[in-house]
Amino acid sequence: MMPTSESYNQHAVHTPPGWLKQSLNPLITVNKLAGIDHQVSKIKLNLHAIRQKLYRTPFYLWLSAMRRYRANKAVFQSIKPLPGELSYFSVSQQQIIPESAALAAIQQGDVIIVRQLIDKLGLQQDFTQLSQQYFACDVADLSQIHLKQTVHDIVRQARVARSSPLSLQLQSSIMHRLLSPHTRQMYLELQPNIRLHLPYAFVKDHEAYIEQQIGRGKLNPHGQHKDSWRGHPKNTINVWLALTEANAQNGMGILLHSLDYHPKHDPDGQEIQPGVKTYPSQHYVTDLQAGDAVIFCAELLHGSVINQSGQTRVALSMRCAVEKPQFHQKYRYNYIGVEHGRFNNLTLAKSFAPALFVPESTATTFAAAEQKGSSLQPTYIDHERIDVMVEGQLKQFPRYCPHAGADLALGELSADGNHLICPAHRLCVKPRKCLA
Ligand code: FES
Repeated sequence: MMPTSESYNQHAVHTPPGWLKQSLNPLITVNKLAGIDHQVSKIKLNLHAIRQKLYRTPFYLWLSAMRRYRANKAVFQSIKPLPGELSYFSVSQQQIIPESAALAAIQQGDVIIVRQLIDKLGLQQDFTQLSQQYFACDVADLSQIHLKQTVHDIVRQARVARSSPLSLQLQSSIMHRLLSPHTRQMYLELQPNIRLHLPYAFVKDHEAYIEQQIGRGKLNPHGQHKDSWRGHPKNTINVWLALTEANAQNGMGILLHSLDYHPKHDPDGQEIQPGVKTYPSQHYVTDLQAGDAVIFCAELLHGSVINQSGQTRVALSMRCAVEKPQFHQKYRYNYIGVEHGRFNNLTLAKSFAPALFVPESTATTFAAAEQKGSSLQPTYIDHERIDVMVEGQLKQFPRYCPHAGADLALGELSADGNHLICPAHRLCVKPRKCLA
């Protein structure tokens, strides 16, 4: 029987033509969608790459430097004179040195401690205001902030606070005060960091989020590094001001006189490569009260101590230079010049940096540190354990660090011989067993 038009239409409805069948096939549809998705991500990637290239063109760099001109000049105009007297303690020489000798000591790889910087410069009120305005508590209570606020809130507040006019004024005024006895030309980076280094138990489940939002080493530990690995100019000086106590349980370690040590590091500059020595027992470890500061070249190897205390350790870290910043090949941070009391936006230097450089990444050991002979001398070592004799007593340590798995064979014994200091973030690892 010939199909009627009705039965034909029914047939047509129930048996779609080939092309329609294909597009209704769930597998083919999914594959097609995946294909489209793939194309879209490819286009997005290409656009991202084009944008990145564009951002590095002199024209774009010039444009962004010009865009910041007025804001930068306003910060320069807000710098206030801070006439207080400061004292400078040289960690290398273990004594107070004259202010006139401090800059040379820093440039030679020394670490300088300035006690009670906040009090002596009369900045207590300013820091109280900063803390109350952005963290809703007094400076004295910042060490307990992890008990009162969520990690998400702390990240958000740290981001807002560090770019606030008050932070920029404070950091510029402090750096200007520290550098002006030494030079009439100075360069200040207008992006301080407020580092709220939370107790590790509070931070460990949020590290990916924190790093994505604000970068490594602001709220969580940062392994041993030099700042140029993260794109900072190679002639940077760091001023690290403790707003709470910063000690061997939650502070920072710095390898003195390590300017000539160029450890191998990851291409993204996040971490030192596995197997490269950091000499943790030779570090100066911060022992600071709230209001004290340390000043050091950013090219000294340094990194956070994983926070093993119950307190949040808070620091305001600031960067500056006494010669024009030698910008990294990939980044140009927002520096301004204060040259003989006049403002320089450094627009040309930011747009056409003449001294582009990439930090060296060549060494696994440092001769000057090797000579001090602090390396571990195990009596036995395998994948599970390290045996060490300490004053006639055999101690067994795990081979790998319980925090993030660093090889403890590159760790070193603490001064009392009771712990192995992890080479990455200085966790004090206890022995499993002591065998008489
Ligand atoms: S303390 Fe971080 S890996 Fe050991």
